[in-house]
Parts: sequence; C-alpha cells; structure tokens
Amino acid sequence: MTISQLKSLFHSELKNIYPVNEIDSFYHILTESELNLSRVDKALDPERLIEQASELFFRKALKELASEKPVQHITNKTEFYGLDFTVNKDVLIPRPETEELVAWVLQEANDRKKLKILDIGTGSGCIAISLAKNLTTAKVTAIDFSESALKTAQQNAKDNNVAVDFIQQDILKTDVLPDIYDIIISNPPYIRELEKVEIQKNVLSFEPHSALFVSDDNPLLFYKKIATLATKHLSENGLLFFEINQYLGKETLEMLKTTGFKKNELRKDIFENDRMTKSAISN
Ligand SMILES: C[S@@+](CC[C@H](N)C(=O)[O-])C[C@H]1O[C@@H](n2cnc3c(N)ncnc32)[C@H](O)[C@@H]1O
Repeated sequence: MTISQLKSLFHSELKNIYPVNEIDSFYHILTESELNLSRVDKALDPERLIEQASELFFRKALKELASEKPVQHITNKTEFYGLDFTVNKDVLIPRPETEELVAWVLQEANDRKKLKILDIGTGSGCIAISLAKNLTTAKVTAIDFSESALKTAQQNAKDNNVAVDFIQQDILKTDVLPDIYDIIISNPPYIRELEKVEIQKNVLSFEPHSALFVSDDNPLLFYKKIATLATKHLSENGLLFFEINQYLGKETLEMLKTTGFKKNELRKDIFENDRMTKSAISN
C-alpha cells in the first residue's frame, strides 16, 4: 500500500464518524508517529510504500478510531505547551484550555524568582511540568490521589528533564498542605453528572471518570476545599489559579469571595467560555 492509498483508506473508513479535517489530522498524527513522516515528506513522495507491519498498525488504529478511541491513546502521546507528554488510560489527556491557564500563570510569574508552586490534581503532570520547564528557578510540587497517574507524571517529568516533587494525597481528606506556596494552581474534576449528555463518547469511554466528574449537588466541592486550604498556605502576595466549569463562573467567584479571597479575576478561553480564575487574599 502507498501513503496516498493509506490516506484514502482513512477517509473511506472514518467518513461516517468524523469530519474531514479531523480525519486528516488523525492521518497526519499517526503517520508521523508510526513512520516518522512529516506533512512535507508525504506531499513529496505520495507513492512511498508502507511496510506490512505498519499497514497492520494502521488497520488496527482505524478500528480503534472507529470505536472513538482518542488518537492520543493510540500513539500514547500528546503535546502540551510545546512539550511531549505520555498519556494513557490513567490520566486525563491535557486540553488546550489548560495551556491558556499555564500561559496566564507564566505571565504573572514573569519576573518573580524562586517561586514555590503547588499543582493539585496533576494527572499527566502537564501543568506542573510545563511550569517547571519555563520557570527554571521555581520549586514545583504536585499532588494527585491516583498512584497510576503519578507514575505517568513522574515519567513525564523525567522525559522533559525537570524536577517536580510528586505527592500522593487525597485533597478532600487533607487538612494541611506540605508548605507555603507563592502559586497554587488546580484543574480539578468539575463536570456535573447532568452535563454527561454533552460529553462525547471518546471522553466517556476512554478517560478516567475520577478526573472528570463531580456530583450535581456539590459541583464546587474541590474548589471550596482547595480555596480553603489556600487561605492558610499562600505566601503574602500568593496567587490561586483555577481552571473552572464554564457554566459556573459566577458561582466560583462567589465561593472564592466568601472563602476569603478579596481580589478575583475571571477569564474566558479562546472560545469565549468562562474558563479560569486568578485570586489573591488581599486587594
Ligand atoms: C481534570 S483532571 C486534571 C489533570 C491535569 N492537571 C490536567 O490539567 O490535565 C483532575 C485530576 O485530579 C485528580 N483527583 C481527583 N480527585 C482527587 C482527590 N480527591 N485528591 C487528589 N487528586 C484528585 C484526578 O486523578 C485527576 O488527575
């Protein structure tokens, strides 16, 4: 089979399930990962032959894509803030909106040296590791309650050549944090059960539910707990950053105010959804 025949096969097998641009994207991600071919390589040599072992890989991948398995779970990798991350069934696949939150933290941390940073609910480690990579004097700690997620995060830190102190801890059962921090950041579970109908099958079937869902009657459970801990564990000019549920911007700000944060800012993501907050104790 040639590379151009492979492209046609992707489109014929997946056309009833995905839009054309998404199929193109799968084709490019998988041919890059399996054959190490860039878009230019493929454009310059469309008649290039694919070896049989690779053809088998692509046929299996097409079946997996047809079952709506995320392409990142086929390649076991993704990119976040320009860095490569291993992902698997134990961690949430990092999302682009979280990159926007990291960019905001980096903007605020710009000229501050030797920051102590805590990432709560680290998953793949994407937030902690991208901050450590870009703030070379910072001391970064990251918490998750999932042992298997932490194993993946540790590997990601090693692969990206950064030191992050990982701690296995259930934040809902925690009364004190390990230290005082200049920045506490979290993207905790925030999708309500009632929002499950909006969630695509690829997320519901393949991503860890403990990373995603909260009950309808207490959707700010993690935010309230983390904000309360942060009131006692932020340094004088410390900042608390959250990624939030787009439907709960007002409620999250209200909760931050009543918990003791006097200065709060809500930001939208590039899709104009309320998506992240920054809070300080004093004005
Ligand atoms: C929405 S995911 C965020 C993962 C990663 N920080 C990111 O932005 O892609 C939430 C993370 O919180 C962790 N988590 C859920 N409940 C927790 C708890 N009670 N204590 C600590 N971590 C928890 C999950 O294991 C998951 O890794």
